[in-house]
Amino acid sequence: MYKIVTAEKFLWEGINLEGKVVLEGGTSWGNTTRLIAKKVVENSWNTELISVDIDDSHFDEIEEDMREAFTKLTLRKGDLGDLYFVPSDSIDVIICNYTLSSVEQFPLRVVKALKELHRVLKKGGKLLITEEMPIWSVDTSDYPYWSKRLRIIKSISVLKAMTVFSEIHPNDLQEVLKLLDFKDIHWKEFQEKINAEMAVKFLDKRKQTLIKGANDLENKHLTDGFVELTENLVKEFEKTKEFLAPAYILKAIK
Ligand SMILES: C[S@@+](CC[C@H](N)C(=O)[O-])C[C@H]1O[C@@H](n2cnc3c(N)ncnc32)[C@H](O)[C@@H]1O
Repeated sequence: MYKIVTAEKFLWEGINLEGKVVLEGGTSWGNTTRLIAKKVVENSWNTELISVDIDDSHFDEIEEDMREAFTKLTLRKGDLGDLYFVPSDSIDVIICNYTLSSVEQFPLRVVKALKELHRVLKKGGKLLITEEMPIWSVDTSDYPYWSKRLRIIKSISVLKAMTVFSEIHPNDLQEVLKLLDFKDIHWKEFQEKINAEMAVKFLDKRKQTLIKGANDLENKHLTDGFVELTENLVKEFEKTKEFLAPAYILKAIK
């Protein structure tokens, strides 16, 4: 497997958004939305961007931030598995960064979403996906922080009967994309730098989930044990600024 460090370079290689309509899947806090807008402004491209998320809780903040710099932005609340508001063959480029493993919290929903992405893309349109590399497929000693964090978060989700993020291996994604008639599919692995402060915030949220209704597991040792694991990892994170996580970028064409 070929590891690249300059993921950003690979992602944008050969991409010119002049006169194009771009669909972003999974707006979230708007990190990628802002990145696309920055590229468009830097290159003076005339680009329309539609960003879709099932959860619109960050929309106001993103709109407020970007109103001046980037006007052709539409934030739309919706399910990537049902893009009824996007006409078929209307999108030039689709970018989904770290979204598909969230969609796949409900098994097979990602297939529905990818089918919709194929429908809305123009013939020859590009699909760009960035995702976490499943931890079970890598040597976890390469990624000690990432591996521990993932295990703790997933274990707490299971204990509290919450949905669990499902990382998707790029080979499996490639097979599904082939079935859906995407062409020229290829991917590369790289290492993502994760900000430790952000990782602490996320862990802390999971700890609160665990503590809320502390007795619902009816085993204080179990709850206390996971709280302790979470707190120990937060202490480790506090000693570092950032750590590495395994990720990949996959590209395909309709
Ligand atoms: C990890 S965040 C995406 C991060 C963002 N793309 C970025 O680059 O910073 C995953 C997002 O996917 C959204 N999501 C999950 N399932 C979805 C679905 N079926 N349709 C649309 N958005 C979905 C979640 O609400 C969440 O905001």
